[in-house]
Amino acid sequence: MTKDISTAQLQFAKDVENGLSASQKYLSSKYFYDAVGDKLFQQIMELPEYYLTRCEFEIFEQHKDDILQKIKTEGKFNLVELGAGDGYKTKILLEHFINKQAHFEYVPVDISHQVLKELEAGLKAEFPNLKVKALNHEYFKALKELNKMDATPKVILFLGSNIGNFTPATAQSFFKELCEVMNKGDKLLIGIDLKKNPKTILKAYNDEAGITRAFNLNLLERMNRELGANFDLNNWDHFPTYDPFSGECRSYLMSTIDQDVHFEILNKTFHFKNSEPIHMEISRKYSLDEVETLAKNCNFTVRKHFMDSRGYFVDSLWEKS
Ligand code: TRP
Repeated sequence: MTKDISTAQLQFAKDVENGLSASQKYLSSKYFYDAVGDKLFQQIMELPEYYLTRCEFEIFEQHKDDILQKIKTEGKFNLVELGAGDGYKTKILLEHFINKQAHFEYVPVDISHQVLKELEAGLKAEFPNLKVKALNHEYFKALKELNKMDATPKVILFLGSNIGNFTPATAQSFFKELCEVMNKGDKLLIGIDLKKNPKTILKAYNDEAGITRAFNLNLLERMNRELGANFDLNNWDHFPTYDPFSGECRSYLMSTIDQDVHFEILNKTFHFKNSEPIHMEISRKYSLDEVETLAKNCNFTVRKHFMDSRGYFVDSLWEKS
């Protein structure tokens, strides 16, 4: 256990060192989600400005039956969820599929053992008859393991606008790789936030209550806690931007003074100029045309776009052709 923690810590330290040594400084957004970050993200999802989660919730409520009709197979299918999290939205689908007596097994995949344990316990209590086969691996390793275990048709869920954190090039290589571990006829349901009024988008990443700000600043605090850094949070400001051409929503933390920050674990000091940014995260928004091009480039056929009533968000159903 101790070895695990120190390996993870070492990787964290290394990633931070690389990011802060770059000419355009950056930090990897995967480090947002420690215990404090998880809590803050829960709060973000409840913010009036953060429409994404509610949109996908509405889509599942409104279209759950149509979704089932489009994904179900003659026999059994495996409903595989990549990055299962707390399963809050997925439960709408699970409940509906169970009520309609669909023949399926739920296969949540997550790199966090803790997340899977809690999800499994919750599901067992709520849906005692649901078959759950949790896989505690990285996505592709999990899918390869699953392929070895059985040849049941797969429906893969990749929800919650996770795709937004990819660059266009990584998105392509991700879905191409995914296509390779799928069989003809297997399906993929992807949650994607759509291009819309830029003011609506920017507000979702710049809420009045300052939770998103706290969420970004928490990564500095995390480095203080875990890497022995000495960031003074008073010298940092949260700055989100949105580019309506590329659809990129970016979050930056800006140094508000000339300052040095020392990391005990790295035995290293980094200098930040006044108004120098650290790039924290990209959340890319797509048009439906861009979604269709991506599907085609990766050898998928788009079966249907399930959208919310305002047309803010899409759960796009692809099939391996
Ligand atoms: N990546 C998620 C998204 O794009 C989570 C998120 C919400 C987020 N607000 C953020 C990530 C602010 C970084 C900064 O919606």
